[in-house]
Amino acid sequence: MPCNCCQIENDTFGEDTAKADIKGYRKSGPAKQTKLILGAIRSLGLKDAELLDIGGGIGAIHHELLDDVAKKATHVDASSAYLQAAKEEAARRHHAERVNFIHADFTDVASELPKADVVTLDRVVCCYPDFRALLKAAAEHGRTALAFTYPRETWYMRIGLKVINFFQRLRRDPFRVFLHPISEMDALLRREGFEQVSLRQLFVWEMSCYQRKGQLP
Ligand SMILES: C[S@@+](CC[C@H](N)C(=O)[O-])C[C@H]1O[C@@H](n2cnc3c(N)ncnc32)[C@H](O)[C@@H]1O
Repeated sequence: MPCNCCQIENDTFGEDTAKADIKGYRKSGPAKQTKLILGAIRSLGLKDAELLDIGGGIGAIHHELLDDVAKKATHVDASSAYLQAAKEEAARRHHAERVNFIHADFTDVASELPKADVVTLDRVVCCYPDFRALLKAAAEHGRTALAFTYPRETWYMRIGLKVINFFQRLRRDPFRVFLHPISEMDALLRREGFEQVSLRQLFVWEMSCYQRKGQLP
């Protein structure tokens, strides 16, 4: 029986979305906000790192980082369709043996998972109501760095997300998007021992990369 989060994410991020995303990735490479995460992680100069990609979708982050920065990856995702697409792409890239795929709500399985050098969450906190539980568990797993993207706190994003959630309610679809307070996410990561090393903004998304204090020169 899947967790409630998995049920909601499975319905939202189903086979059609996964197929469209993998097609787009094969044609054009990683999305813009994903490239910001990749750039931030690559700039840390890590080699042979262990990666934990939470809510990795079709797996763009591990497909890319396994080519240079990472030696192995764990991909935890609440959507089985996304995980399947990520697995097929990993096999196509001859990475299959280096990725551990786990279908779960990360907060449910976090205590069973090992730590990693790098933790990433690309457009994930905005799909999850309890950002504190998600980010805290993610931070506890990060030995060296954590990079994530989330919607910017701007007037147009506040309106946009309200409109999306209004239509979700009309459709009686329980999936919601969340504009979590950036200052609280930042404070949580600092309490967990991280400091911010890069911050980039696009029109919709913001990317923050944190490193654990004292872990890098
Ligand atoms: C908007 S999609 C982003 C996918 C991918 N990271 C990207 O940027 O293309 C959000 C992803 O997060 C996953 N997700 C959301 N909450 C999660 C949780 N608590 N544990 C694991 N996966 C989660 C969803 O299943 C989905 O794959």
